[in-house]
Amino acid sequence: MELLIQQGDIAATEADCVIVNLFEDVNHPGGATGFVDRALNGAITSAIAAGDFKGEADTTLLLYTNGAIAAPRVIVTGLGKAGNFDFLAARKAAAAGLARAAGLKGVRTVATICHGTGIGGQDTEAMAKALALGSLLASYKVRKYPADDKEQGVSTCTLVEYHAEQIPAMQAGLDAGRALADGVGFTRDLVNEPPNLLYPAEMADRVRAAAADTALKCEVLGEEAMRELGMDMILGVSRGSRREAQLIILRHEPEELEEQQPLIFLGKGITFDTGGISLKPPSGMEEMKTDMGGAGAVCGAMLAISALNIPRRVFGLAICVENMPDGDAYRPGDILTGISGKTAEIINTDAEGRLVLADCLGYVKRFSPSAVVDLATLTGAIGIALGSQAAGLFANDDALQEAIVAAAAATGDRVWPMPMYDEYKDDIKSDMAEVKNAGSRMGGVSSSAKFLEHFTEDYPWAHLDIAYMALQGKGKPGQPKGASGYGVQLLASLAAAI
Ligand code: BES
Ligand code: MN
Ligand code: ZN
Repeated sequence: MELLIQQGDIAATEADCVIVNLFEDVNHPGGATGFVDRALNGAITSAIAAGDFKGEADTTLLLYTNGAIAAPRVIVTGLGKAGNFDFLAARKAAAAGLARAAGLKGVRTVATICHGTGIGGQDTEAMAKALALGSLLASYKVRKYPADDKEQGVSTCTLVEYHAEQIPAMQAGLDAGRALADGVGFTRDLVNEPPNLLYPAEMADRVRAAAADTALKCEVLGEEAMRELGMDMILGVSRGSRREAQLIILRHEPEELEEQQPLIFLGKGITFDTGGISLKPPSGMEEMKTDMGGAGAVCGAMLAISALNIPRRVFGLAICVENMPDGDAYRPGDILTGISGKTAEIINTDAEGRLVLADCLGYVKRFSPSAVVDLATLTGAIGIALGSQAAGLFANDDALQEAIVAAAAATGDRVWPMPMYDEYKDDIKSDMAEVKNAGSRMGGVSSSAKFLEHFTEDYPWAHLDIAYMALQGKGKPGQPKGASGYGVQLLASLAAAI
């Protein structure tokens, strides 16, 4: 969807549909909404008076204008209570409005006002960013096979602003929203893609191609390079697959910051997780195509960080491997020695994510990072604890943890702090190696984090278990059913903050 900006009067704007807004419990709309209401002979006021529309968040009102204004349709999107209104509420209102318009078969072009400015009194640039983000995220479509040509959707959304002096700030906000939405869209595309089409080398190709249009430096290590480095945990997991493992390294290095210690994001990129020899049950296994959601988020976030020109040295690493059963696959009972000489006994080949991450946690030491944050669809158990409402956050550094909690609150990519008591490590004690890759079912999320911690070096580190965040089983405005793009906004916000 194209996003444009235009100076003018929303009532006079030609479009298949115009979108205006209403705060909850306002009986007589003002501003641009009031203007449209008067042009429609009070149709919005009547809908409010009839009790059919209250302006609540996530609700919309559709009216046909019968020639009273230039556009044939008006959608009023609810802003919720004025006292609760903020960036996330504006993003949600934009998403709900655009989703309603996109649900109408005859709508190709939309014109909207910027929610929250004017009477809302909010910062213009922030509100334009929220508008762009909400609208673009809501217009996202999952690619179908074959492509559905009939499903055209909204092709352009024009932000119409009456006051010319507001336009530069709005344009800046739209550009920022577009940069983030493109990153989220890139991640969603990767995560939604079927696992026969998206395997490690293909993922590396797509990321390399996307990075080529930016200032990001992209380097990809194949298995030969990994062997030389001694990344035998990654190679162990990869042995059951005919697809070669790939370590994608993206660098955002703004000029004059060459000496800055990089912030490092690391993503688990299992392009398909069968469980390996410890094979998963068939029911729901197709969802394991999303087991590269952490790597997908890191790559999408790096594209956004580059497009936003964030003044921070940031590296993104995506470890892409396929976990398959095979005559040559790694087995329970095997002992793997990783890049730093640390060892793990394999109890369950389905606990593969922590192994591939372990080698990367050792590898990143060479960059002397200021902090390392990994994102991984690591355990089913995190879904039992938190459902699809938040990622589990594990950290060994309070300042880093606080910064992540703040970035989550600002972006709506929710996190919830989980414990890392030393006793959880008892559960992964091995008789044969330093640690074993699976403990008991009890406290399985925390013992997985303790496993990762064992392989960290002396840098602040945080781990986000996003197993039930990468995919959303139910759609909502701004989040069509399927891959969520969780983490892109969170990481971009974090990079700007620390
Ligand atoms: N990729 C899975 C975790 C997962 C489960 C992601 C559900 C998304 C939805 C991971 O590799 C895995 O299989 N974890 C095991 C670990 C266990 C064997 C210790 C699990 O959670 O059962
Ligand atoms: Mn697994
Ligand atoms: Zn997995």
